[in-house]
Amino acid sequence: MDFKVTPWEVEGEVDYDKLIQEFGTSPLTDDILERVQKITGELHPFLRRKIFFSHRDFDWILDMYENNVPFAIYTGRGPSGHTHLGHMMPWIFCSYLQEKFGANMYFQITDDEKYMYNKELTLEKTRGYAYDNALDFIAHGFDPEKTFVFTDIDYAKTLYTIAVRIAKRVTFSTVKAVFGFTNSTNIGMIFFPAIQAVPCFLPSELEKRKAPVVIPAAIDQDPYWRITRDVAEKLGYYKPAAIHNIFFPSLEGPSGKMSASAESSAIFAVDTPGEVRKKVMNAFTGGRETLAEQKKLGGNPDICTVFQYYYFLFEPDDSDLQERRQSCKNGEIMCGTCKKELADRIVQYLTGHQERREKAREVLDQFLLKD
Ligand code: TYM
Repeated sequence: MDFKVTPWEVEGEVDYDKLIQEFGTSPLTDDILERVQKITGELHPFLRRKIFFSHRDFDWILDMYENNVPFAIYTGRGPSGHTHLGHMMPWIFCSYLQEKFGANMYFQITDDEKYMYNKELTLEKTRGYAYDNALDFIAHGFDPEKTFVFTDIDYAKTLYTIAVRIAKRVTFSTVKAVFGFTNSTNIGMIFFPAIQAVPCFLPSELEKRKAPVVIPAAIDQDPYWRITRDVAEKLGYYKPAAIHNIFFPSLEGPSGKMSASAESSAIFAVDTPGEVRKKVMNAFTGGRETLAEQKKLGGNPDICTVFQYYYFLFEPDDSDLQERRQSCKNGEIMCGTCKKELADRIVQYLTGHQERREKAREVLDQFLLKD
């Protein structure tokens, strides 16, 4: 395989169909989308555009909902730095699910994982980013009555009680095979999959009922759910369901994802208008060498990261998107114009986000679970 997807690394040009096969997940079919449309009255653009493309048992989640068994939503963040737009994709989708289905939402922040994984990060740093990243999450408009945010360290006593029951049932050879751990992997990381599994079962414990749970996240997190699903029934819980999104691309080229470790590949939630404009103006496009060639031959939106940005988040109207694509191919719109418009849209989006993020500071405590 010429690409690699693990919870910690994504390399190469990802073939998502192959990934469905390799991970053993299912494609998100039109049947499922029709069911969602019927229930919610409106299909989120992420579903229409197959940005969420794969799942485990999402149809079962809809069955449960239709039979009046409420489901909970679970997602999370590893606080290794500032939040970027890619991290926010699952959160945008979670807030749509919460609004449409009235579901409880659980948000795990793995301050322990990022400390143990990353040699450079101190625990003080990951714990600091934890509560900063939480603001970006809350800024998406979650209901404080129905949304529970916790960091592994500050909620350790409750989480650990469930984690030991999971850990007892998962062998080293399983996590070695699933995550590629080796003899030089530190033992914290070897135990950690039990901690990331806990919130799949936490709703059952806190809500005192056997609760169905669905996890929206990029497909890189799926290996965790494989392990969790194996132990769930032995512990008396439902297997968690999952719905997977593709990666928001890097600004630097069509292969590779937006990554916090490559500054110029990503737009961060806290970027200033100047930073946004600079990154977008330097982005990789599908443009030609010269303006004359571009006018004559047209550009190539299929390899253009700027066009991808419109597709993912910044042009929700399908016919306007199609029009932009066509004018690019016809050589009617030049990369400079397209980039400038995109930068304006991102700046506007982030201005709103940053205001909501500041307001989130005042209500953060209402969301937090701590021991
Ligand atoms: P982390 O912090 O690496 O990523 C947070 C969320 O963002 C998704 N993601 C992306 N989505 C689209 N495009 C990208 N370029 C991109 N990069 C990352 C991730 O899939 C994730 O949903 N161990 C986890 C934290 C965690 C978690 C969870 C995540 C704990 N429990 C439950 C999802 C669901 C982590 O480090 O995520």
